[in-house]
Amino acid sequence: MSVNRIGILGAMPEEINGIVSLLKDKQEIVKGMRTYYVGTINDIEVVVVFSRWGKVASATTVTHLIVEFGISQLYFIGVAGSVSLDLAIGDIVVASSLVQHDMDARPIVKQFEIPLLGKVELYPPKELLERSFYEMKKLESSSSLLQLISMEQQENFSISNPKVFLGKIASGDKFFANNNEKESLLKLLPDVLCVEMEGAAVAQVCFEYNIPYVIIRTISDAANESSHVDFKEFVGQVASRFGIAIIKALVK
Ligand code: ADE
Repeated sequence: MSVNRIGILGAMPEEINGIVSLLKDKQEIVKGMRTYYVGTINDIEVVVVFSRWGKVASATTVTHLIVEFGISQLYFIGVAGSVSLDLAIGDIVVASSLVQHDMDARPIVKQFEIPLLGKVELYPPKELLERSFYEMKKLESSSSLLQLISMEQQENFSISNPKVFLGKIASGDKFFANNNEKESLLKLLPDVLCVEMEGAAVAQVCFEYNIPYVIIRTISDAANESSHVDFKEFVGQVASRFGIAIIKALVK
């Protein structure tokens, strides 16, 4: 696949900072309360930026990447809360599809359907998805993620062997912080693996502009009563290291 310029969005400033440290010939461009870092990784031109939080902010940032920076492909990394019991903190989810769990224009269209697009789910393009999943599986089998954090961190976060999953991600303008909310979501969307606040919005923009994209999330919390604490700790201590490893595996 020939790629001229890759956009890299991170859902947390900590993740962006790690990736920015990989850039060669770095330039900074500030616009609309966002700092875009232009440079190269492995001689491939990239633009790295913090998406900011929520659907509106992230859709705006990715639109800017497409229209102003002319990216031809997008990777979006960040953290997520798990809703599937199969997932543990530190696991990685590659989105095979994305849904906006707070989209509800009933009775005009059915619940979760994106008006005018006539779609409930958005699917990243097959070729890029397969390649990205393959690269993440290589990270899993080499146990290289585990080596990025200390024994103490492995114990504190109960991370023993980070696994890589392919599945559905639900996004919306809501931080899940209790089991009731999580169970209500699962009743409506039983096959969702994890929740976050940007991916499906970014997917919609990429779909509309025909830009190949992949969304990859690391589980930071279990979307329950302790999620706000787990989330902060994980982002501060682990997410940026995993983010660097993920991007190094993809941009080459
Ligand atoms: N991102 C990380 N954890 C999350 C949660 N619990 N809810 C929504 N987005 C998240």
